[in-house]
Amino acid sequence: MTNGTAGPLPDHQPSPARVRRATRLRGTLRLPGDKSITHRALILAALAEGQSRVWGGSDGLDCNSTVGVLEALGVTVERLGPADGGRVDRLVRSPGRLGWREPDDVLDAGNSGTTLRLLAGVLAGTAIYAVLDGDASLRGRPVARIIEPLRRMGATLHARAADTLPPLTVVGRSPLAAIVHQTPVPSAQVKSAVLLAGLSAEGIVEVREAVATRDHTERMLRARGVDVQAASADGAWVVRMEGGATVQAHDEQVPGDISAAAFWLVAGAAHHDAELTLERVGVNPTRRAVLDLLRAMGARIHETPLVTDGTEPMATLTVSTSDLRAIELGPADVARAIDEIPALCLAAACARGTTHIRGAGELRRKESDRIVGIATGLAALGARVTVRGDDLAIEGQPDRPSFGLTGVAVPTYGDHRLAMTFAVAGLLAAGETLLDDPASAAVSYPGFFTDLERVRA
Ligand code: S3P
Repeated sequence: MTNGTAGPLPDHQPSPARVRRATRLRGTLRLPGDKSITHRALILAALAEGQSRVWGGSDGLDCNSTVGVLEALGVTVERLGPADGGRVDRLVRSPGRLGWREPDDVLDAGNSGTTLRLLAGVLAGTAIYAVLDGDASLRGRPVARIIEPLRRMGATLHARAADTLPPLTVVGRSPLAAIVHQTPVPSAQVKSAVLLAGLSAEGIVEVREAVATRDHTERMLRARGVDVQAASADGAWVVRMEGGATVQAHDEQVPGDISAAAFWLVAGAAHHDAELTLERVGVNPTRRAVLDLLRAMGARIHETPLVTDGTEPMATLTVSTSDLRAIELGPADVARAIDEIPALCLAAACARGTTHIRGAGELRRKESDRIVGIATGLAALGARVTVRGDDLAIEGQPDRPSFGLTGVAVPTYGDHRLAMTFAVAGLLAAGETLLDDPASAAVSYPGFFTDLERVRA
């Protein structure tokens, strides 16, 4: 890809992708539907008897993995028109959870940890035998964290490598026992798996978290008639749900994905001549840490809240060229901004001073070992990154326009968030940045490279 001399980079492009520095960044983007909210809207629609619409949901590969698994369980998912920039409207028709059929094959969650972990929770409370599997990356992701509480509730689960890695077998049971579960690491997927299993439980199910993780499941359950309470108590975030509840059919309007917005917020703040507007972005308090952290770094981000009647708050965000400075991130910040840490590390590389990120071990358990991926890719580009255990130190080089970054071939480890982080780095770096596997962006952001060409102005 060149600065306007070549045509737009197709989203299903040959590898590697080439990204050159942008002279200006301008434009208004509608982002793909939020991935986390789309998974949950689809799953809750499938739990309810009847029809539910999911407006503006993610058309990324991960959410389509959830669609595929739900279809294998006897749920019908119809696309209501063509996808538009990673957003698609869907109509879900379901016989309800008790009418799901036993799948006759292994359920393929693809690259998606959310699909595997949330659906394991649901299946734990059904009379269904199922095997959940996925791609090579998913087969390396931990499942003991859901096996332990779901077994305590009474379901039978087994996994490879001494019950630690997928494929994951679930033999459900109903009713399940109500439990109190203290999550060993803050994880919305684990919390959601336990709450979704709790729909088949007798009594009050309680999940206690050291840091309040994204609360989309709780909000959506409430909107569908389930009694869910959440409050801080004894230094923990405690979510309590009345078990055995029926989920009602309900339509959901999905906001734009703030995790996708993060790439443009970093690009717009760092680039020397930028103004980007991002429309209808989800700004749920449990997801907006990236906004607040970037602002603490000096990013000029203007936020106009939108009036919605949905379950999730939205805003229009405008970011413009900013002088970034280093900040300190601890384990709670890492938990709150878990998916945006790669983009934040790029911002740190463009900031004045040294940013420390402490307690980032969970980054090693994502689609790739993101500590290795960030450190390798940013260092290859010329950034100064030090890794000690699960801590990162990034010494920024604030000199514009390239921040000491020079385009090279960067490995992306098949990880969508690394691919997009290094593509944004390519908009800043001198010369040409080569990404070995740009297609992975489609996991969460199918239109990413089209948008990258659009903002290049
Ligand atoms: C997600 C929770 C997070 C996040 C993932 C989506 C969710 O994972 O990294 O991309 O939708 O619940 P963990 O729960 O493993 O932290």
